[in-house]
Amino acid sequence: MSTTSNPAASPDQRSAAPALSCKVSASPHDPLPSPAGKKPAPPCTLVIFGAGGDLTQRLLMPALYNLAVDGLLDDSMKIIGVNHGERETREWTDELHASLQQFAADKASTFHAGKLDDNAWSWVAQRLEYMAGEFELDDTFAKLKQKLDQSKGGNAIFYLAVGPRFFKPITERLGKAGLLKEGDGANGGFRRLVIEKPFGADLASARDLNAHILSYAQESQVYRIDHFLGKDTVQSILAVRFANAFFEPLWRREYIDCVQITAAETIGVEGRGKFYEQTGAFRDMVPNHLFQLLGVVAMEPPNSFDAEAVRNKKADLFNAIQPLAPHDVVFGQYEKGPAGVGYREEPNVAPGSKTETYAAARVFIENWRWAGVPFYLRTGKRLAARHTEISVQLKAVPFLLFRDTQADALTPNVLTISIDPAHGTSFDFNVKTPGPVMEVGPVRSSFDYGDFFAERANVGYETLLYDCMLGDATLFQRSDSIETCWCAVDDVLHPKRGGALPLHGYAAGSDGPAEADALLARDGHAWRPLQRKAPGGKS
Ligand code: BG6
Repeated sequence: MSTTSNPAASPDQRSAAPALSCKVSASPHDPLPSPAGKKPAPPCTLVIFGAGGDLTQRLLMPALYNLAVDGLLDDSMKIIGVNHGERETREWTDELHASLQQFAADKASTFHAGKLDDNAWSWVAQRLEYMAGEFELDDTFAKLKQKLDQSKGGNAIFYLAVGPRFFKPITERLGKAGLLKEGDGANGGFRRLVIEKPFGADLASARDLNAHILSYAQESQVYRIDHFLGKDTVQSILAVRFANAFFEPLWRREYIDCVQITAAETIGVEGRGKFYEQTGAFRDMVPNHLFQLLGVVAMEPPNSFDAEAVRNKKADLFNAIQPLAPHDVVFGQYEKGPAGVGYREEPNVAPGSKTETYAAARVFIENWRWAGVPFYLRTGKRLAARHTEISVQLKAVPFLLFRDTQADALTPNVLTISIDPAHGTSFDFNVKTPGPVMEVGPVRSSFDYGDFFAERANVGYETLLYDCMLGDATLFQRSDSIETCWCAVDDVLHPKRGGALPLHGYAAGSDGPAEADALLARDGHAWRPLQRKAPGGKS
């Protein structure tokens, strides 16, 4: 995660009141400038295991294409796609092109100009090579070694865009074939391994996977991805906290009543029934995505944005998470409702499935800053609305000055950081309503990224890929933090007494099970409604 202020701005511009107040957007024909201060990544060969998979088509290729448009890839870059099944490079390239065109048409905002730039695509296409190979056969790795030996510089990134069962066999074979051995020349000759989530299914399996990987690669070579950290809006939380004077003094137990972290989805399991049956909402989202959000919201300020400085502070925070108690966790499963069929009727789901599609948790952080402040986390499929957001609710004012007016029940101040699909922040506070009587009413002040900045093409993997090529591990998970996060949830995954957690039904299209409301009601709190109106009446 490279950090720059705006070096081009004059001191006057830098200190001026916000000058960017109109909506700005790039014209479809203007070449987008390279992001300020960014240089192309060093030359490397990117080897993608799982060349035919969904992740490659939907996220990696679009991100590489966007990086190419921004001029952030080296001219000598090569992309080798490995998959089982013989096919020509031409066929693979055509398939990727067709899916990119489709995405560009469907999701204009994630691509430059909403349509593919033929030059940029042909730049990428010329660098693609398909290699047929089984992930568990030594022969595949011997073939790959030959190809890499011919490539310039020897830098290589091995991206495991495959199911978790292949993480170990691929790493082992890469290691045994000598493909993870780094060069010692001036130009590096780096070898990096990118591992997708899920990284283990509990503490024991994550430890085992870490140990296996680290017997073939150094920690510094391993880039464990959590794609939530690739989102600009998540990275911006650090900017909001540490580039402004007015949040940080309040960012502590003395002023904050509670924090809510929500990743609510309207989609169901989308044909992933088989995967979901083994994983469930809790493993899929809580110790990884939601804990990462917790990390950026609650970590102490690092001394710099150096990868280790940031990761050390996050590790301290994860270490301070009080192990989740089963009675502070609620599991739910969607049933038939306004948004469609129940989970048990989805394809590849057992008719009597006990898998949770919703999870809520009350989490405490045992440190000086946060002791006693509840962090409420929730995630679920087939909910009433799609919101990934963090709401920080401040404590009530100490003295109700307006006791004799209708202002007795003041609406709490809430800072909401919207991550998806809205990108921005809003702040709820109270003002005097117009008129002769002293009445107080809530209002909302909002900021939306789109009102201030030209939309940059982004599928969420650009920064992660670029950073990996640069060797910047700030946004990637270190082995110790992965294990600490699994450790914090181990009692929920393996309750010592009483077996599995109870499962509560909720209607597809609702806000989740009533038991999740009760979890907060115990503390006198309530979830932010998923479908809501702004105080001013706008939704
Ligand atoms: C993935 C989960 O890691 O994140 C999915 O496996 C989930 O189940 C997805 O839908 C959510 O990511 P995003 O970026 O769409 O909010």
